[in-house]
Amino acid sequence: MGYHKEIYETVHKNLEVLRRKEELKVKKKAKVFYKRFPRAKEIEKELSRTAVSVAKAVFSGSNAKEEILNLKKKSDALQKEFENLKRKINISSDFLRVRRNCYLCEDRGYLDGKMCACIKKMLKQEAYNRLNKLSPISLCSFNSLKLEYYPEISSNSNENSPRKRMEKIFSFCKKYALEFSVNSKNLFFQGATGLGKTHLSLAIAKEVLDKGLGVIYGSVETIVERLEEEKFSNSFDKDNYNSNKHIKNCDLLILDDLGVEFSNSFSNFAVYSIVDSRIMLGKPTIINTNLSFEELERRYSERLVSRIMGHYINADFWGNDIRQQKRDRNIKTTQNMIDQSQGGLISRLHSNKMQGISENN
Ligand SMILES: Nc1ncnc2c1ncn2[C@@H]1O[C@H](COP(=O)(O)OP(=O)(O)OP(=O)(O)O)[C@@H](O)[C@H]1O
Ligand SMILES: [Mg+2]
Ligand SMILES: [Zn+2]
Repeated sequence: MGYHKEIYETVHKNLEVLRRKEELKVKKKAKVFYKRFPRAKEIEKELSRTAVSVAKAVFSGSNAKEEILNLKKKSDALQKEFENLKRKINISSDFLRVRRNCYLCEDRGYLDGKMCACIKKMLKQEAYNRLNKLSPISLCSFNSLKLEYYPEISSNSNENSPRKRMEKIFSFCKKYALEFSVNSKNLFFQGATGLGKTHLSLAIAKEVLDKGLGVIYGSVETIVERLEEEKFSNSFDKDNYNSNKHIKNCDLLILDDLGVEFSNSFSNFAVYSIVDSRIMLGKPTIINTNLSFEELERRYSERLVSRIMGHYINADFWGNDIRQQKRDRNIKTTQNMIDQSQGGLISRLHSNKMQGISENN
């Protein structure tokens, strides 16, 4: 499948830890149970002895029918006694059975020498986790997107206000995320800095990951660097890393900050090739950029811009830099806190002084 060997090692280790953890849980429960009911251990021993006797009787052939019947009766009685012991502490009948997350391979990852679906999923997830390491995805959700940061008044009376526009974009994207499938459309988020393009795309990513689908997020700059490293460095185990393949094949790719990367023939071709391959494969991509279409045309090939214009749904973000607004609010709050504490200090000093004066008098 072409993952790096570290990914296999991590997943195998995770599976082993999972198995051990469940086995340990049962061992602990068993210890408590047998300590409380020593008879349970004896019953188990007797049951296995009975099973051996039945087998012997079956193979001895002559006149074994009656003996087998008696052994069966004994076995049933022992099992009943065992069940009664368990019932005394109100536990389910299979409490001594080790629980497995995957009933097919019992968390071994392999079935008849072939990879089980569970390990395939874990390998894919581990590969994505490594590629997504740098994204602040845990902080971004639809709930933390507020409309109050976008102006209610439009600068041009013929247009919607930024708030109205962003409200539409948010609700479109919420629906997009909710209904996301591997055949969803491509999105192109355009707009000035700090308007929420990265935040919104990560909010979508979160929903998509929750559906169990694979998402790769990265700035164009880091993705291109990674591809360049893998292509030209000898120290990379090329067969095993294969980022190019994952980037082109993942269920959702988010290319952040298009236009910020250092531009050269390698980076321009890498971006074109990713965009083109994903269109051909019908796989959804979200691209974020500060550049206008004119700027894109100046910087990239016509072939890339034409693909983005033809195959992406464009959302133009409006408003004022939210990063800046949050900074201003923080400064204001800190200033207020300083003013309040200073006010308190001054009034305390003042009242102490008054007290001093009256005491002196
Ligand atoms: N609607 C919103 N409500 C609350 N916080 C927001 C909202 N949109 C963005 N933010 C926050 O504002 C900051 C800037 O947003 P973000 O990074 O998404 O902007 P951007 O459009 O990607 O900017 P850039 O073009 O510089 O990459 C982030 O901390 C983000 O969490
Ligand atoms: Mg951004
Ligand atoms: Zn399995």
